[in-house]
Amino acid sequence: MDFKQIVMGRYATKKFDGRKIPQDKVDELFELILCAPSSWNIQPWKIKVINDEETKKKLAPVSWDQPQITTCSHLLVFCADSDVMSCINRLEKLMAKNMSVQKAKEMTDMMRGAFKNSTEEYCLAWAQRQTYLALENALLGAKALGFDSCPMEGFSGEEYSKILKLPKNIVPTALCAIGFAADTPQPKVRFDKKDIFF
Ligand SMILES: Cc1cc2nc3c(=O)[nH]c(=O)nc-3n(C[C@H](O)[C@H](O)[C@H](O)COP(=O)(O)O)c2cc1C
Repeated sequence: MDFKQIVMGRYATKKFDGRKIPQDKVDELFELILCAPSSWNIQPWKIKVINDEETKKKLAPVSWDQPQITTCSHLLVFCADSDVMSCINRLEKLMAKNMSVQKAKEMTDMMRGAFKNSTEEYCLAWAQRQTYLALENALLGAKALGFDSCPMEGFSGEEYSKILKLPKNIVPTALCAIGFAADTPQPKVRFDKKDIFF
């Protein structure tokens, strides 16, 4: 499938057929998600993977009872990590494997400087913006690997945090349900080029 077919063929699936995606394909998708870009490569996200029916049933009522939750193979909960300083510390260790320790420190000190006066709210909003880039990789990646997906914001982040027992800094931001579609795509409804590009 070429890139245009992936972009045009992906759609927000409303219902899945309940079949499980083979684990090797799920792992391939994870690789694609990991390669998403982020500002300074800080990767301020965590993705909770849910594939057991019991948890999905608990989450459905706090997701507007949308059928994707219970019919999907895996539900990926894209969480922003508002603890940006910890992400930078982790990145420094990773960078030090690929460059000198000194250089890794210099680069991450620059990042720390940029965030040192940032409020928690700012860090969260910033991390959430980055998290959507990882979400897009999941949506297109799923199509490329031969299955379907639905991005979702129709859920209560607070309830997800409680049910999944997430730490305060790990904030559910968007969902990506993945599986095999049991519906049919609708034609794309999009604004004209002239309304968007100027
Ligand atoms: C961030 C985001 C949140 C969305 N939330 C939901 C949702 O909760 N439920 C749903 O059925 N679709 C949801 N959608 C899907 C959109 O409605 C859909 O992408 C849009 O109508 C365009 O259709 P298409 O993706 O099939 O081309 C969401 C899409 C995005 C990008």
